Amino acid sequence: MGPPDAILGVTEAFKRDTNPNKINLGVGAYRDDNGKPYVLPSVLKAEDQILQANMDKEYAGITGVPEFTKAAAELAFGADSPALKNKLNATTQGVSGTGSLRIGASFFAKWYSKSKDFYIPTPSWGNHTPIFKHAGLEVKQYRYYDPSTCGFDFKGAMEDISKIPEGGVVVLHACAHNPTGVDPKPEQWQEMSQVIKKRGLFPFFDMAYQGFASGDIDRDAFAVRQFIKDGHQVALSQSFAKNMGLYGERVGAFTLICESEEEMQRVMSQIKILIRPMYSNPPIHGARIAARILTTPDLRAQWLTEVKGMADRIISMRTQLRDGLKKEGSSRNWQHITDQIGMFCFTGLNSSQVERLTKEFSVYLTKDGRISVAGLSSKNVGYLAKAMHEVTK
Ligand SMILES: Cc1ncc(COP(=O)(O)O)c(C=O)c1O
Repeated sequence: MGPPDAILGVTEAFKRDTNPNKINLGVGAYRDDNGKPYVLPSVLKAEDQILQANMDKEYAGITGVPEFTKAAAELAFGADSPALKNKLNATTQGVSGTGSLRIGASFFAKWYSKSKDFYIPTPSWGNHTPIFKHAGLEVKQYRYYDPSTCGFDFKGAMEDISKIPEGGVVVLHACAHNPTGVDPKPEQWQEMSQVIKKRGLFPFFDMAYQGFASGDIDRDAFAVRQFIKDGHQVALSQSFAKNMGLYGERVGAFTLICESEEEMQRVMSQIKILIRPMYSNPPIHGARIAARILTTPDLRAQWLTEVKGMADRIISMRTQLRDGLKKEGSSRNWQHITDQIGMFCFTGLNSSQVERLTKEFSVYLTKDGRISVAGLSSKNVGYLAKAMHEVTK
């Protein structure tokens, strides 16, 4: 018997609790202000159009639905990106963000000869280590989060990155870092890009939250596009779980920016050889939805408004939580709650405070003090503020 998944374990305990005020802040999925899952109206419209179009259910090619992979790459790099115009992007559909990371990991394990060391931030998304190790890579770390400020340890990150031996792969969360909600500022990204270039390292971006962080898809893609401008060949994994609410549809993409169109062709051929024995070809329905939204002007405009709506609700919950703590009389500095961005907030609560939150207030979260801000609503944010104040005074 293997150990249960840490986050799913939190949900199990939540389900067993009979307290009517209980809150589950463990799960990383968006909820509306009534605490309910949210299906984007643009997604429903796209599905309706797909139904009307009477499309067949034949297999996609190994690399997925072509309209989707083209639109996904344009969303990440920008439609006018010279890298795309010059056909340097080897882009394949993947099984959401996780599957796309896994394809990238397999590709690097087999074909990247300079290093097998993947450097992830401390801390990082809990699935990064198993994904990379499963592909046969070594996982190492660089400093990222500073517990004393609940912010970015820029100095530590730069020091560690500048000591990575040439060729090492640096895994970067493109925006809305999970689990901390702490992102580098644009000028810090620029400096990181320079040191990664100077050291001859390979940047591998994980972009699971484009648009979901700031509400602006271009702003959230800043880091990826800056690295391209600086002349890096980047690897990129994308997920459409959060920004389109397509969690269970498993829509994602992996891209490697190559040096030439000819290299891109060779990379694509090897990616196909990797994917074929894993799952043959990806599911089509979610990719068709995403492609339709991205390529139909009125649907795209509607989607952009909906993504912004989700991001804005999360940002407003952060403000309400911080204000609520002040109202309760907390004298602690909670500025990091509003400085951090995206779905998650690293509250700075220690494990015994987390335990008290759960035992005394039926508030469920992971032991590291991470809360999913998307799980808050105008109805429960006051209760959480009170509970957090009680365990931290
Ligand atoms: C940093 C990060 N990468 C990747 C993913 C992949 O998620 P999915 O496989 O559902 O797209 C997530 C989801 O929580 C994430 O937070």
